Amino acid sequence: MIIESNVPQKIIDLYKPYKKQFESVKHVLQGHTFYLDQRYMPIDISEHLQYKLVGQGAYGCVIQAIDKLTNKPVAIKKIERTFNHRLFAKRTLRELKILRLIKHDNVVDLKQVLLPPSREEFEDVYMVMDLLEADLSQVIKSDSLLNDDHMRLFIYQVLRGLKYLHSAGILHRDLKPRNLLLNRSCDVKICDFGLGRAIAENIQNNIMMTYYVETRWYRAPELLIGYQNYSSAVDIWSVGCILAEMILRRPFLRGDSTKHQIKVIFELLGTPNEQYIQSFPDLKVQQNLRKIIQEYGHQNGIGLNQIFGHINQDLLDLLKGLLKFDHRDRLTAAQALKHSFLQILHSEEDEPISVPVNPLEFEFEKYELTKEQLKDMLYEEILLYHFSEFRNQYFQKLQSGQSLISHIVNNENARIIDPNADDDFEQ
Ligand SMILES: Nc1ncnc2c1ncn2[C@@H]1O[C@H](COP(=O)(O)OP(=O)(O)O)[C@@H](O)[C@H]1O
Ligand SMILES: [Mg+2]
Repeated sequence: MIIESNVPQKIIDLYKPYKKQFESVKHVLQGHTFYLDQRYMPIDISEHLQYKLVGQGAYGCVIQAIDKLTNKPVAIKKIERTFNHRLFAKRTLRELKILRLIKHDNVVDLKQVLLPPSREEFEDVYMVMDLLEADLSQVIKSDSLLNDDHMRLFIYQVLRGLKYLHSAGILHRDLKPRNLLLNRSCDVKICDFGLGRAIAENIQNNIMMTYYVETRWYRAPELLIGYQNYSSAVDIWSVGCILAEMILRRPFLRGDSTKHQIKVIFELLGTPNEQYIQSFPDLKVQQNLRKIIQEYGHQNGIGLNQIFGHINQDLLDLLKGLLKFDHRDRLTAAQALKHSFLQILHSEEDEPISVPVNPLEFEFEKYELTKEQLKDMLYEEILLYHFSEFRNQYFQKLQSGQSLISHIVNNENARIIDPNADDDFEQ
């Protein structure tokens, strides 16, 4: 097969030692083409040879397969359109990095990333993960029982995962029921780190942190008003929205635009006071907030008591702690785990924290790389799973504090500019 490629010869030569030595097998699953290693066999779930897509998100398409080496089921996510835009490539790179660095019971386990045939034929990213049975949105929509014990078990595990992630300096930024996986024994795992971000202090980005993140209904107020210096508290707000959704069995705060979302929150919790407004160092944020308050008029807010007065008072108190308007008043994951509603599950020794991720792993955030350079980065990230020599070199560099990407920053691909480079700034 001759592949047309614009990869410069120098780069093809650089990666020549890492060519894939065997052919992949093509599977067409409900219109999606998957090229998989022999080792993985898609599971056929009915007599009609219908393969089941276990899930489809905005970027990924997930199937279940058997890993013939271990005889265990796995989920394989093909990230589609990875290289259509630089932003997509960057999302994928963040997701792979974060999932390699974070190993925790309540975070989906990325076992493998399939090796592309070669650098010049690298088009798709396939992630092999542990397979769970459902996501939380399916459970909420079903008619299966969701009592206080279920909610306690789910929320406890989400917070346990978040405590670990936040201590590592990772924000998820897109928590919602579809990104929480579960199985019959009620294990919960956080998935989909496409919007995940490392926030360690020394990862200074030349681009401001984006505020247009997270599916709107789960987005914290400080994000909605455009505050750029947001923290792990944005994930906690989302957990509050998810908990409320489990209680109500429908999404809780449903704005149909960013402004409307703010209005919905004002109606619930009341308009914030002047002290809150002035706490934002950015005058534009202050102005923005005053304008919105003026437009909607002062609101007292109906309050969570009014809506959730009938539920377990401990549960209500936890919900209030998660859904504090002011992010500084919101519980942290570690604090929430100690809340009385979770007391029977809480055990400090079994709620580990992590060391912060090494900022060198996220050095790419500092640079404006071309799509082809991001592809180099992603390709190397995948090589870590397949070539021990490459892996050793990589970790040697890390240990001695050397840059992992200096050889990519000005490489031949720096000149290969994308035709659509202007439509992928982070919005
Ligand atoms: N490991 C898995 N096991 C079972 N289902 C999964 C797994 N990973 C993802 N899914 C399902 O696939 C959907 C899309 O995957 P996700 O990683 O969220 O991709 P996207 O970035 O496209 O949203 C999820 O909402 C979930 O329903
Ligand atoms: Mg998703």
